[in-house]
Amino acid sequence: MRNPFEYGGVVGADAFCNRSDELKFLTRAIENVQTVFMYSERRMGKSSLVKQVLSNLDKHLFVPAYVDLWSTDSAESFALSFARGLTEASTHTVEKMLLFAKERFPYLVPTAGLDDSGRPKISFTLSARDVSKPNLAQVLEAPQRLAERTQKTVVMVLDEFQQILEYENDLVERQLRSSIQHQRNVAYIFLGSRKHLIQKMVIDKTRPFYRSGPHFPLGPIGTEHWEPFIKARFERFGKLISQPQINWICQLSEGHPFYTQHLCHALWELAEPGHPMSEDLLRAALELLLKQEDYAYSVLWQSLGLNQRRMLQGLAWEGSGATEPFSSAFVHTYGLRTASNVQRAIESLLPKDVIDQEGGRYFILDRFFKLWIVNLMSGTMGHRTPLPDTLEPQ
Ligand SMILES: Nc1ncnc2c1ncn2[C@@H]1O[C@H](COP(=O)(O)OP(=O)(O)OP(=O)(O)O)[C@@H](O)[C@H]1O
Ligand SMILES: [Mg+2]
Repeated sequence: MRNPFEYGGVVGADAFCNRSDELKFLTRAIENVQTVFMYSERRMGKSSLVKQVLSNLDKHLFVPAYVDLWSTDSAESFALSFARGLTEASTHTVEKMLLFAKERFPYLVPTAGLDDSGRPKISFTLSARDVSKPNLAQVLEAPQRLAERTQKTVVMVLDEFQQILEYENDLVERQLRSSIQHQRNVAYIFLGSRKHLIQKMVIDKTRPFYRSGPHFPLGPIGTEHWEPFIKARFERFGKLISQPQINWICQLSEGHPFYTQHLCHALWELAEPGHPMSEDLLRAALELLLKQEDYAYSVLWQSLGLNQRRMLQGLAWEGSGATEPFSSAFVHTYGLRTASNVQRAIESLLPKDVIDQEGGRYFILDRFFKLWIVNLMSGTMGHRTPLPDTLEPQ
């Protein structure tokens, strides 16, 4: 029996929960041939969402292309990934892919074959050491050429878009911006995982992508959507879970898809068919999870300075509610001594992506790390475990 809760990679339709508003929004943006920026903290479900959108598109009207920029670090590797994503979207046979590549990217060297599941795939290398500006421009214009030839709207998804800030210069950012504004038949969806970086790219007046399209954050999934999703997946296998228990899971994971799926996965493994779920089982699942992460969290914890740890303890202990880290109560309770120590701790934890800020509120990004810290503190701060004492709904 395969566990119905999946976490880690991109999830497909049978493991996909809700997101109906987002699916609609992105689909409409594509139909309107817009340029959209979507950003969120890590593992919030951007790639899964956009792949879902692409797979629902009418293939008679659209050519969906997906480009993962994660492993790119230069204009050269960008051009190779871009060419690959577009070529793989352009047709379904190895021969036609090679023809397309030869016609569109004559200065790139293609290697084509079949992947493990028998689907054609292609990759490119450069014939020269660098990608010249005209060659890059030609790569960037290829989606519009394909749209004209097929009489369809081409949809270019550029995932991990913030990666282009790591390149040596802003050549790609500028060229991309100037190229796509003339493309009448290509919709662009840019996905970024480091919120402050992608925000900087579209909100900073001096950057090429300043205000070049709607940008929106992808948030967690509401408990009302998780509830039927989680319940059905337990019940399908005769495993019984109550509504308050589902509320608890969502409270612990804060509705973040990755942590919700991970916790449900662990719980599903422990649950026995025909037996109502006990509070002990919930605790056991969480403990198991925190134990699995213990080594990584310990290493991270050891790498932090005293003020950083105290800051995290405060954020973890106070929870996601109205934490006022600059208040004298917070500074005093968590031994930070001064508000400027709080400031310094925040400034050093933000770029490490250990914490984030949303609407003036600071929080620990990794929901399980937060629970791990609460666990660590429960010995010294009095009785408190990550699981509240009662399973009554609040
Ligand atoms: N709509 C969803 N329904 C159920 N689970 C989801 C959904 N979206 C995401 N998840 C869960 O979150 C995990 C991460 O999803 P995904 O890789 O799509 O996120 P991401 O934002 O692209 O992450 P990254 O920042 O690492 O690129 C999935 O493996 C899955 O467990
Ligand atoms: Mg992703």
